[in-house]
Amino acid sequence: MKIQRVGVIGCGLMGSGIAQVAAQAGLRTVVVEASAAALQAGLQRVDKFLSGGVAKGKLTAEQKQATLSRLTGSAELEAIKDCDLVIEAVVEDLRLKLDLFARLDRLAPPTAIFASNTSSLSITELAAATGRPARVLGLHFFNPVPLMRLVEVASTIQTSPEVETTVLEFARTVGKTPIRTRDKTGFIVNRLLVPYILDAIRALEEGVGSIVDIDHGMTLGCGYPMGPFTLLDLVGIDTTYFIANIMFEEFRERRFAPPPLMKRMVLAGFHGRKTGKGFYDYGTEPPRPNDFLATAPADH
Ligand code: CAA
Ligand code: NAD
Repeated sequence: MKIQRVGVIGCGLMGSGIAQVAAQAGLRTVVVEASAAALQAGLQRVDKFLSGGVAKGKLTAEQKQATLSRLTGSAELEAIKDCDLVIEAVVEDLRLKLDLFARLDRLAPPTAIFASNTSSLSITELAAATGRPARVLGLHFFNPVPLMRLVEVASTIQTSPEVETTVLEFARTVGKTPIRTRDKTGFIVNRLLVPYILDAIRALEEGVGSIVDIDHGMTLGCGYPMGPFTLLDLVGIDTTYFIANIMFEEFRERRFAPPPLMKRMVLAGFHGRKTGKGFYDYGTEPPRPNDFLATAPADH
């Protein structure tokens, strides 16, 4: 089976990037959002990225238009009814995803493959909400999707080998390098990455260093492209908090436990770049660190 028509559910940070790379690879793509406003914001993100690419000489204006002509949006889930592959990229919430997979199962052709971009939830559990567990697997892209080369392809004990092969081929078609993994919480990358970024928050809480110094520690000292706080702001502190809770629930190990500061930032709406404020404040250029997050109250 060759994937020709792709459906993406969710047009947030990840869904917009996934829809973009599928359309850029020449595949007819439909992206579904929960509301017309969210859809418009997501499609604008795609437009902006492609315009940036044209400005940088990475693609031509004609290629941008051709990509956009292959990409349609809808606020109705029925829009995926002709798709060969549906990639779910909604908020990291089990109930929401289970409900979606059950509805997708009723709407999509019986031959369609379902993939989830989940960072931490069990693919087997999502597959159990459908009547086609052999055709369900994890397809985990990385942020920012158009620039990051990797995808993790996570089979369950029920996924058919043919489905895995088809999806590995799809990943290569959209310009990614797939790595194979199993349905184990966090797969390969988040198993290693999540404890590291949570430890950075703990180091900040314990006064080991400032936001900027911890970020510099990892960029200048270890050659990482971004420090942990810049990365947290990119990924979304809300999303990372959901992921950490799910991983902690699964493993019951402190290294996956979300630090108290993180919970408070989520409650305060400091979700990172997407809300304009996280470990850095994006209201200024360059962004300014919110160092007050870690310090004790000043003396009177
Ligand atoms: N269109 C096309 N190309 C573009 C572009 C655009 N709009 N914007 C940038 N580019 C290109 C640039 O031209 C450049 O290309 P060359 O290498 O050929 O010069 C390249 O993309 C890098 O762009 P920049 O130089 O502007 O930016 P950078 O060097 O600072 O890199 C980055 C940006 C790739 C995001 C880098 O900072 C990075 O790798 N950061 C780490 C990201 C990361 O760790 N992501 C994983 C998050 S965890 C996750 O996703 C999993 C989960 O479940 C939470
Ligand atoms: P996000 O909050 O940016 O986007 C989620 C989108 O889902 C929102 O636009 C929301 O309106 C939409 N949505 C919610 N309910 C919906 C519904 N019923 N139908 C259609 N759309 C709906 O989140 P994100 O960062 O794009 O994360 C999405 C998924 O990708 C999560 O499972 C997350 O764990 C995973 N992921 C995130 C990253 C990252 O760096 N942010 C990286 C890899 C994987």
